[in-house]
Amino acid sequence: MRLKNKVAIVTGAANGIGLSIATAFASEGAMVVLSDIDEAKLNQEVKHLAANGAKTLAVKTDVGNTEDVKNLVHQTIKAFGKIDILVNNAAVAIGGNIMEMPESDWDTLMNINLKSVFRTIKETLPHMIKEKSGSIINISSTQAFRSWHNWTAYAGAKGAMLAMTNQLAGQFGASNVRFNSISPGAINTPMNAKRAETEGTAFLEKSASQHAMNRLGTPSEVAMTAVFLASDEAGFITGEDIKVDGGLCTLPRYTE
Ligand SMILES: NC(=O)c1ccc[n+]([C@@H]2O[C@H](COP(=O)([O-])OP(=O)(O)OC[C@H]3O[C@@H](n4cnc5c(N)ncnc54)[C@H](O)[C@@H]3O)[C@@H](O)[C@H]2O)c1
Repeated sequence: MRLKNKVAIVTGAANGIGLSIATAFASEGAMVVLSDIDEAKLNQEVKHLAANGAKTLAVKTDVGNTEDVKNLVHQTIKAFGKIDILVNNAAVAIGGNIMEMPESDWDTLMNINLKSVFRTIKETLPHMIKEKSGSIINISSTQAFRSWHNWTAYAGAKGAMLAMTNQLAGQFGASNVRFNSISPGAINTPMNAKRAETEGTAFLEKSASQHAMNRLGTPSEVAMTAVFLASDEAGFITGEDIKVDGGLCTLPRYTE
């Protein structure tokens, strides 16, 4: 019960890594607010967690929308009175060669994957400062460190998240609010399953072979790192990025 009595918000919590983080937080004793744009799946997962004894709340949220994010924070405070943990996990995977990518795709990606982080932190931080306690975890990606063809916008947003994490850790350390990030390698989630549907499965096999451990990661391997960063065990860790990448970044550059 490493997160007993803590209140956590997880964005993009209806599937994949976000769902795994929310589930792990609940089993460590946290009260978890699951938010996602996919209301049906969100309600289904919250029902499932509640049936297993977790204290949870579902708040349908498009992180690309400021009013939705304000409502998410409002509902959390109304239900639980405080926010100890925020996990910025929601994101979309939009690829595209920079020379051909429509500006509208760039804007959509930046709004959902990056500006969302500005929105959630802006609304959450005052509550954490008031309590003089908080842990904010940004889910970045090894894309912030490595070159994959045609993922400039996605990688740009993930790299900016790292810079924000570092900058905010410096600014709000004295308020006992910690900012850290996790950079996963390729993880077996619906995001990759969706890509496999359109691109075929070959990229998944190639992806696995890029990791020193020669496999994809699991959502729970990312989730357990988030539990650690959220917990008091990580009380003196801020401004840090933890790669959960099976050694991907130790190997030579990936090529298509
Ligand atoms: N899967 C990987 O290989 C991998 C690798 C590195 C980083 N990541 C990062 O991990 C995080 C989770 O990825 P995943 O693979 O679990 O993704 P996923 O697509 O399986 O799940 C993402 C969730 O976010 C939700 N979502 C999408 N747009 C949203 C919006 N506008 N508002 C609220 N919710 C929204 C989706 O409905 C979905 O439930 C993302 O930040 C992703 O960039 C994933």
